[in-house]
Amino acid sequence: MEKLHDAERRIEDLRREIAEHDRKYYLEAAPSITDQEYDALYRELGELESKYPQLITPESPTQRVSGSPLDVFHQISHRTPMLSLDNTYSKEELAEFFRRLQRLLPKSVIDAVIEPKVDGVALSVFYRRGFLEYAATRGNGVAGDDVTQNIRTIRAVPLRLQDPAPEEVEIRGEVFLPKKAFAALNAERKQAGEPLFANPRNTAAGSLKQLDPALVRKRHLSAIFYGLGHILGQEVATHRESLQHLKHWGLPTHSRVWVARSVEEVVQAVEDLGRVRHDFPFETDGAVVKVDRHDLREDLGYTSKAPRWAIAFKYEPERAETRILLIEVQVGRSGKLTPVANLEPVLVSGTTVSRATLHNGEEIKRKDVRVGDVVRIEKAGEIIPAVVEVLKDRRTGVEEIFEMPTHCPSCGQAVVGVQGQVDVRCVNPECPEQVRRRLEHFAHKGALDIEGLGEVVVGQLVQKGLVRRIDQIYELSEGKLAQLERMGRKSISNLLNGIEASKRQPLWRLIFGLGILHVGSTAARELANFFGTMDALANASLEQLCRVPNTGEVVASSISDWFQNENNRSLIAGLKRHDLNFGESDASETSSNKLQGTAWVITGTLGKPRGEIEQIIRRNGGRVSGNLSRKTDYLLVGNEAGSKLEKANKLGVKIIDEMNFWKMIEGKS
Ligand code: IVH
Repeated sequence: MEKLHDAERRIEDLRREIAEHDRKYYLEAAPSITDQEYDALYRELGELESKYPQLITPESPTQRVSGSPLDVFHQISHRTPMLSLDNTYSKEELAEFFRRLQRLLPKSVIDAVIEPKVDGVALSVFYRRGFLEYAATRGNGVAGDDVTQNIRTIRAVPLRLQDPAPEEVEIRGEVFLPKKAFAALNAERKQAGEPLFANPRNTAAGSLKQLDPALVRKRHLSAIFYGLGHILGQEVATHRESLQHLKHWGLPTHSRVWVARSVEEVVQAVEDLGRVRHDFPFETDGAVVKVDRHDLREDLGYTSKAPRWAIAFKYEPERAETRILLIEVQVGRSGKLTPVANLEPVLVSGTTVSRATLHNGEEIKRKDVRVGDVVRIEKAGEIIPAVVEVLKDRRTGVEEIFEMPTHCPSCGQAVVGVQGQVDVRCVNPECPEQVRRRLEHFAHKGALDIEGLGEVVVGQLVQKGLVRRIDQIYELSEGKLAQLERMGRKSISNLLNGIEASKRQPLWRLIFGLGILHVGSTAARELANFFGTMDALANASLEQLCRVPNTGEVVASSISDWFQNENNRSLIAGLKRHDLNFGESDASETSSNKLQGTAWVITGTLGKPRGEIEQIIRRNGGRVSGNLSRKTDYLLVGNEAGSKLEKANKLGVKIIDEMNFWKMIEGKS
């Protein structure tokens, strides 16, 4: 008993300590212990809790990720509506906003509070007696998605408020992805050959929509709070007072707000904020100007959409002028030629920019971009800045017109344009630059993960003509590798082992490694799950491909085109010859006519990959479709079948479970 009591005391101490460190980290940006020390406290707590599970409470920091993935988000009605703000890009309109307040409230001194407008996702959190009860998105302003499970994973959001907390309080804020976390996330995705996220805001919004909180935690979201919705059991007279409360309750708030009493001061504050906003850890797209006193807010009231007591001043996306030093043309993995401007380095939105994409030849012509031109570039939260316009009056006559090459800068073969498309491509399957990029992708950590096959070795293999197509890496020998620079016996044997080991990598890694346009690692996993074998995938129809979860027509066509290409077919055959894992299982190869002439639809999760089952149906003479209609003969139902089951009942379609399906296939005909 004594022991339990000791554990309880220690657990409480640890929880208090961890919450305090979270607070220091997120509120004051001044951690007082190292990450390792923090992790040690966390681990100790976790160990004690697993010994004494009866002491676990939902507010324990170890319980931030709890519960299993949801199917859908439920709706939560906001206690007070979440309105939007009127906004303006003009200082004159901003000044007019304040003058209007002065006209409407002639007897009052109006204090305006000016604070950063975080470019994230609006959030409402509700605490009852200090405990986090729910968190919701804005939705339509009246009700939003219940994202409590996801918000609990964000360490900046306390699960419990510091005392004295009110009986009930609804707090408004913004969830965001810190600039640093965004950069790290994209660096990771680049490594994995996955498409990059466009900007932190979309990434934060997408993350909150995830149904699995464990995935959300990995995104390292943060949050900041700026106001009260509803509060019970406490009177709050001003905005500044509410910010004080938020801070005392342990919620992160802005490190600095400005106060202004005249039109000039308001404009001045917005300009000041505009200068320092790039130093904040989050993206901002404006400043919010709000009346401080709550009684004056009541007097001013609301329009149907927005309060009359606040306005958002939006900063223009930042632009800068610089010179184009050179236009270089890159050849991508799929042969696409992309012109990229190399610029005189210039500071935009707090980062140094020395390259900007010019997209394609058409774009260069349309904007009449020349080498040596002074251009205006813009960066609006995107990763790669864009050239907005050419400052033609700054031309001196030495600028050179740029023509997209008619031949590939890597292999010299004539490039090909597709009718109706602006892109041009090098279609030489042996183009060294393409082979190099494909091989790098194939071997990298996220795909086949071949140790020792990094950029330098790949570059040499391609340059020496030892590898012209991916499957040729499986023909490399000690003798061939000895031709490479700085390759000793040990490195050669490691590389050969790495190459051999890659043959047993799971099917999804191989599919991903092929570098099919739009097929990232997630899609590759879905395809491998669905089809089960490379052959089933290679022979899949467009209709079948569209039935793979999260696969739309664009992705499906890209896959289907890829497998129809003669070179790719022969690459696949080559990989098969070298015995890579094609996911062949013991799926019955035998064919029969047991299902001859029958039409099938499949729903729910089955014991084998969907694609494999479809193949079996086809091999036995049946047809498979995604559409349930009166013409359907059988609906094969797995676990968690959806609405199709109900529809089949209505249409009188025969419903069959997996056990009876196997009986049909294996039974006598
Ligand atoms: S006050 C009645 N303050 O901007 C509306 N909003 O365009 C009160 N936002 O939905 C909003 N930072 O998500 C306020 N410091 C801040 C803000 C802020 C970001 C967002 C918020 C709101 C949107 C309105």
